[in-house]
Amino acid sequence: MCGIVGYIGKHKAYDVLVKGLHRLEYRGYDSAGIALLKDDGTLNVYKAKGKVANLEASLSGKDVEGTLGIAHTRWATHGEPNDMNAHPQVSQSRSLAIVHNGTIENYNVLKEALVQHGYTFTSETDTEVLVQLIEYVKQENRCSLFDAVREALLQVVGAYAIAVVEKDNPDTLIVARKSSPLVIGIGQDETFIASDATPIVEYTNQVIYLKDDEIAVISRKAAIQILSLENNLPSQLNIQTLRLSVEQLEKGGYDTFMQKEIFEQPSTLCDCLRGRIVDGGERVVLSGVIENKERFLHAERIIFVACGSSWHAALIGKRAMQEMCQLPVEVEYASEFRYGNPYITDKDIVIAISQSGETADTLAAIQLAKSKGAFVYGVCNVVGASIPRNTDSGTYIHVGPEIGVASTKAFTGQVTVLLMLALCAGEIRGTVRPDTIKEIASALLRMPDMLTEVLKLDPVVSELAKIFTYAHNFLYLGRGYNYPTALEGALKLKEISYIHAEGYPAAEMKHGPIALIDQEMPTVIIAPKDSLHDKIVSNIQQVKSRGGLVIAITNKGDSAIARLANYCLEIPDVPECLTPIVASVPLQLLAYYIAINKGRNVDQPRNLAKSVTVE
Ligand code: AGP
Ligand code: GLU
Repeated sequence: MCGIVGYIGKHKAYDVLVKGLHRLEYRGYDSAGIALLKDDGTLNVYKAKGKVANLEASLSGKDVEGTLGIAHTRWATHGEPNDMNAHPQVSQSRSLAIVHNGTIENYNVLKEALVQHGYTFTSETDTEVLVQLIEYVKQENRCSLFDAVREALLQVVGAYAIAVVEKDNPDTLIVARKSSPLVIGIGQDETFIASDATPIVEYTNQVIYLKDDEIAVISRKAAIQILSLENNLPSQLNIQTLRLSVEQLEKGGYDTFMQKEIFEQPSTLCDCLRGRIVDGGERVVLSGVIENKERFLHAERIIFVACGSSWHAALIGKRAMQEMCQLPVEVEYASEFRYGNPYITDKDIVIAISQSGETADTLAAIQLAKSKGAFVYGVCNVVGASIPRNTDSGTYIHVGPEIGVASTKAFTGQVTVLLMLALCAGEIRGTVRPDTIKEIASALLRMPDMLTEVLKLDPVVSELAKIFTYAHNFLYLGRGYNYPTALEGALKLKEISYIHAEGYPAAEMKHGPIALIDQEMPTVIIAPKDSLHDKIVSNIQQVKSRGGLVIAITNKGDSAIARLANYCLEIPDVPECLTPIVASVPLQLLAYYIAINKGRNVDQPRNLAKSVTVE
């Protein structure tokens, strides 16, 4: 996601826009840019890679006059962070400027058509295609800016919140949205627009939240007209009064970024899946895999390299890749791999998983693997980071900036991409049945709704956390796909609450850890109705028979578990390989509330960093 902000009114737009970008920087900071329209129709566009401060520094001495403007702080999805890919993107004639939050899925098709009509492109972004399309429609139809934007958006597939201005038209600002947020702030003879209300709240508390498939024409003196994109009929202006502080607004009304990111997971999974499950849920297409079909067809081994939560995601990916690709799969801590003098051949595919794309050990592992002839594939969140720039190909998880140090939405995004990777590669290798692909792909499409369902556990987990806030040790147990889920649950608890927690394969408990079990040691057991359900039931019995307390993550209506466990957190029934996605959310919430009860800084826990760029 990124931040867009716009202003039209009686004051100098520059001051409002730059201050607004700073307020939105938590939404992404790959690059920043601003377009300012002067009363004489001059359109000045400035942009710079990096944070907003870089843009400001580049503007000293520049003409920043104008009472109409738009600005953008980018979280790249198409085209790495640099000046050319920064927004605002301008049309070929340089008469239109646009800022955009979202992804245009059919941008390639639209771009090819525009090239046929003589358009050339200067950036790698999907956004530039949209502004060129608006110009093309405007010139072909000789219509107004509003009609051109509307007609262009009717041809777009994807998500967007946009703001568009036109040279020589200093009294009109056009905005529109579909799936990405956009707020209109109503001032005294001035109007503000932004991705959320944080840049607006200091000027006015009167706002309109634009709805999906609405387009608005904003003129001077706060004249606003909102119309339906579909039928061009006017929508009612639903003016609301803001009651949140800036700090609360940056966190979307949540208390912390971690809480916001836990609750964002239904929408971030939508972003992660968008455009990748096709043919009515029958197939999975990941461009990085499709473009390297031969590599995946002739691979003789897969090796995952990662750290922390990404390593846990890799363990889940391993099971899926083994099953669906019928290949030997290894999972290595990047730090161990890089110093382990591994035997690597050009028949190996090394898959590096990293949210930040900057983890030093993972980056070093990649370089070693490449030096030994492996094909290296990246699964990252930050577009244009060091790891994606050093791999042969890859897939972005597209969950937006993860600010909280403890990984939550990135972990579920990584697992989702790895499952899609296994399905896509398995289809290429002919080692997974079409009905299996269809079953899992269609279940993946339902995962956002499944997570919405799981998040309803929030008040139950908040209450449960009060019982265990002062425990000194926890044991997390799981089997199969949920052994890594147990590891991840334990990591969440220890890294934000500072309580010691161990994740273990449930069957391993009797080879040592069972000696720890007593009333002081709560045991969290992930126990969905999967192929190992009966085994996990006996593990629960073993813990209970030694006086241990059991918190079970279980499926609705599982009476066997409900009779045994002290506490049950019920999750929806999903295919076995998808259970880590639904099961990890109550574990995130449990860790979160225990840490909050202990007064911890959950967004920035002691001793930790969001990206470990050192050994
Ligand atoms: C997870 O909650 C931690 N923040 C940490 O283990 C993290 O997963 C690890 O440092 C790897 O980071 P990366 O995914 O950015 O490479
Ligand atoms: N897809 C656009 C780009 O990559 C916008 C990304 C965003 O929402 O920041 O530039």
